[in-house]
Amino acid sequence: GCVKAGLRGALIVLEGCDRSGKSTQCSKLVERLVQEGRQVLLMRFPDRTTPIGQMIDSYLQQTVELDDHVVHLLFSSNRWEAMRKMTELLQSGTTIIVDRYAYSGVAYSAAKGLSVDWCRQPDVGLLKPDKVLYITVSPEKAAERGQFGTERYEKLDFQQKVNNMFLYLKDPSYWQTVSGEGSIDVVHAEIYKLATQTIKESEHLPLLKLWT
Ligand code: TYD
Ligand code: MG
Repeated sequence: GCVKAGLRGALIVLEGCDRSGKSTQCSKLVERLVQEGRQVLLMRFPDRTTPIGQMIDSYLQQTVELDDHVVHLLFSSNRWEAMRKMTELLQSGTTIIVDRYAYSGVAYSAAKGLSVDWCRQPDVGLLKPDKVLYITVSPEKAAERGQFGTERYEKLDFQQKVNNMFLYLKDPSYWQTVSGEGSIDVVHAEIYKLATQTIKESEHLPLLKLWT
């Protein structure tokens, strides 16, 4: 492998609405980086495997109802419970590719009507990503990709609200928009280029905290 002593890994987040291709692109990116012999890990939020994640899963599958504030705090807790592990991995040189993060947390809850300021607070101080790649697809293109599933939030009008919230949250100092409309390989090529640049640029930079 290409593990260089003392260099940290990069924290790279992919965000986007449903059917933007995030999960496919996360897997392809990680596969390629692993093939190159790099130290890399794929993570996703929510992480449904923890006790908190299981509560979130029941909520998303609509088998339980929870107050909007409560579920928002569960999503945030689900990120906080991963911070120690993520910090250690980054410091030991592992790059982490993350499928959804605090931006999904704020965008989905704020789209339900909670205040953006309130929504941001629980995630203040999480690890700040070195780069957020925001994958966009037009509603028309998304519609071509087939039906929504049956989980909570998987409805067109709600997804449009979420998309508007993402655009509001977008911070050009470390976000980059990637068109998700090309073929899987074309989109992958763009994401790979941006990710490898980010890995190189982050090696010597300190880890920062989100929204501080
Ligand atoms: P996920 O399991 O990533 O499914 P997918 O990306 O395939 O839709 O996400 C589940 C849902 O949870 C998704 O609708 C977005 C939502 N979500 C929140 O509401 N808050 C959060 O903090 C996160 C991470 C996701
Ligand atoms: Mg979904």
